[in-house]
Amino acid sequence: MDKPLKLAIAGLGTVGVGVTKIIQNHADLIATRAGRPITITAVNARNRDKDRGVDVSAYQWVDDTAAFADMDDVDVVVELIGGSDGTAYDLAKKALGKGKHFVTANKALLAHHGHELAALAEDNKVNLAYEAAVAGGIPIIKAMREGFAGNAIDAVYGILNGTCNYILTEMRETGRDFKDVLKDAQELGYAEADPTFDVDGVDAGHKICLLTALAFGTKPDFTSLEMTGIRHINATDIAFASELGYRIKLLGIARRMNGKIMQIIEPCLVPKNSTLGTVEGVYNAVHVEGDYVATGHLVGLGAGEGPTASAVMSDIIDIARGYETPAFGIPAKDLQAPKWVNIGETVNCYYIRLNVLDEPGVLAEVSAILRDNKVSIEAFLQRGHDPGQPVPLIMTTHESKHKNITKACAQMENIKSVLEKPCLIPIENIK
Ligand code: HSE
Repeated sequence: MDKPLKLAIAGLGTVGVGVTKIIQNHADLIATRAGRPITITAVNARNRDKDRGVDVSAYQWVDDTAAFADMDDVDVVVELIGGSDGTAYDLAKKALGKGKHFVTANKALLAHHGHELAALAEDNKVNLAYEAAVAGGIPIIKAMREGFAGNAIDAVYGILNGTCNYILTEMRETGRDFKDVLKDAQELGYAEADPTFDVDGVDAGHKICLLTALAFGTKPDFTSLEMTGIRHINATDIAFASELGYRIKLLGIARRMNGKIMQIIEPCLVPKNSTLGTVEGVYNAVHVEGDYVATGHLVGLGAGEGPTASAVMSDIIDIARGYETPAFGIPAKDLQAPKWVNIGETVNCYYIRLNVLDEPGVLAEVSAILRDNKVSIEAFLQRGHDPGQPVPLIMTTHESKHKNITKACAQMENIKSVLEKPCLIPIENIK
């Protein structure tokens, strides 16, 4: 058997501990599959004394992760610290620059600096690998880079954030509102104390940037991404969506349209029996449309110790096998600057919820605004009758231009009996 592949692990949180456990518990299995043993040389974390439920005493403890890049007995630096800049970014540049392979679960780092780091890896003839950065246990990076490599990709989209999917599922199953369910999710450990990255779509945003790059051969570009999270979705939306035959899902969407690319994060109504409509709870799912494969649909756990560590290990085993591949599927120098679709010009059917005072004439005013903005109503629903009191007014539209419907919503907000900002959700009639 060949000489061992030696790792340095930066970060012993949930994922770092998971990786250490797999290496310890599956040493023989991995050595057989990889053709050589995989061992840990050194580790680093913020707190040396913490009991992590795994024995790391046999590994060299390094206080400054930068030292990993200079260690002769380290082939691969495994970065499990997180953050788009600071320590993780510095470590990536130093390790790749010194000819170490770099394996990371850090989607923010790659969404912001992916092109630069991919080029650095190629210049130094090492791998930059990040299977764990998108959808945890779903091998979507490998699928995009290898499995679907013979296809021109038309679209890749899916449920990329388990926290949001859990919250939306709980809201539907219990009828409770966002804030209430978020609090529970935090207590159960499904949501962070600061939930911003998850519920405002940033985490999913980082992931779709990487999928876009893989699908279309473009430089990852987070700065021009439009993101809408799920804070404005309430129990009424979930219930009406169900009644109309839909589920509400936070989707990351990357689609090729007339030579340009649409890249967006937004909650959408999807048919309840569609592939994405049936994915519930903390599960993630990614849907890929290619010209020959037609569609591929992958579902799995997107977070947590086991699934994420499993993904990190797949990258490490690839490196042990001597497998070389450009980070984004094509040489970094060939990645193009993306040409983005103007979202305002895109066309969709929409769901609109207005919270209005139940009084004569409101509907007439609302429909006049929609007419003036060339938005055609497909259906509207109002349950109950409570004169002078707030009631939800639900509408679905025929295909409308995004810029027209957003203008209409802004105008409707100014109607005296419309009590809050309209809730606008696109309808994605996927299979
Ligand atoms: N917080 C993410 C999620 C997992 O809820 O899916 C890590 O990206």
